Amino acid sequence: MNSRLQYVELNDGRFIPGLGFGTYKPPEVPNSKTTEATKIAIEAGYRHIDCAYAYQVEEEVGLAVRSKIADGTVKREDIFCTSKLWCTFHRPELVQSSLERSLKKFHFDYVDLYLIHYPFSMKVNENGKTIYDHVDLCAVWEAMEKCKDAGLAKSIGVSNFNRRQLEMILNKPGLKYKPVCNQVECHVYHNQRKLLDFCKSKNIVLVAYGALGTQRDKQWVDQSSPVLLDDPVLGALAKKHKRSPALIALRYQLQRGVVVLAQSLKENEIKENIQVERRAVGMWVLYMLLLSSYPGTFLSPPPQKKEIKEYPWKLLNHLTYFKMLPIAFSESFKYMTL
Ligand SMILES: NC(=O)c1ccc[n+]([C@@H]2O[C@H](COP(=O)([O-])OP(=O)(O)OC[C@H]3O[C@@H](n4cnc5c(N)ncnc54)[C@H](OP(=O)(O)O)[C@@H]3O)[C@@H](O)[C@H]2O)c1
Repeated sequence: MNSRLQYVELNDGRFIPGLGFGTYKPPEVPNSKTTEATKIAIEAGYRHIDCAYAYQVEEEVGLAVRSKIADGTVKREDIFCTSKLWCTFHRPELVQSSLERSLKKFHFDYVDLYLIHYPFSMKVNENGKTIYDHVDLCAVWEAMEKCKDAGLAKSIGVSNFNRRQLEMILNKPGLKYKPVCNQVECHVYHNQRKLLDFCKSKNIVLVAYGALGTQRDKQWVDQSSPVLLDDPVLGALAKKHKRSPALIALRYQLQRGVVVLAQSLKENEIKENIQVERRAVGMWVLYMLLLSSYPGTFLSPPPQKKEIKEYPWKLLNHLTYFKMLPIAFSESFKYMTL
């Protein structure tokens, strides 16, 4: 494995760099910041860029990549670029044209990975209002398979799917391609232990977003939730290993075979985060985080939206210290040797 980029093999034989650069930013931040940050990221050594139609920065990401190709820093084939199908384009006849629209914005012939962004569908009604819709996920997946066959997406996968929804695709009669990954919220406070085991058993890579505790966007994140990078255990580990809490939080994911995304618009943070794999972390202490702090999600909150058929999350139980203790130890032994 390349020590800087740590590629992980996907179930279709292609490889994904273990660390990806996240490009979501709140709408009030100018889009030009994304171009700037993405160029810095490529110069710093990132080769995996995570984007989506919904982030509305595909043009800026494409511009940054093309400028780094033009100045000889990289070739197109060195970059692993992801985009995602938004919920309003789930109807099978809209899937390929939606990807083509993204490709036009990037000025790319293909994306390396195309994901179904969420397992629930939406549509715009006659009054211009966006409402929930129902589209059969298996039909969406068949349309994704056609995008791969057309060469527009080298690999295809899903995001924010729970186990049942993954099984629905895996058990689909006539399945041509398995999803290569499931991109979900995953961090030390919500480590997706069961979903990770399931994904591993099916040779599906788990890709973690929110690994640094998210951008804490007021629109989505409860501002009274704890700030992940201020966690005292993470801080103590960082001190011990002479690394930042961010590097410990990222290393934690790589050690357990998770591909991890890290977002920042700040040059120092972008450059710092790519140092991730340099030092191992005492895994057992990290598992203690689960016990000490806030077992919960930031971006995938559990309002029980029962009216949405494919709403993927359910309320988390607030697990007690004693219930979690044996799990923490068995998990730490499982990954200690990696
Ligand atoms: N599939 C999905 O539904 C989905 C959902 C959410 C995100 N994503 C993807 O995942 C990416 C990452 O998730 P995210 O954007 O939620 O956030 P994240 O990577 O968990 O956290 C980003 C924030 O962490 C802070 N940070 C970054 N590096 C740091 C460092 N070295 N030291 C201290 N603080 C640091 C920055 O805050 P400051 O700027 O304040 O320093 C930054 O805004 C997104 O950009 C997007 O590409 C996907």
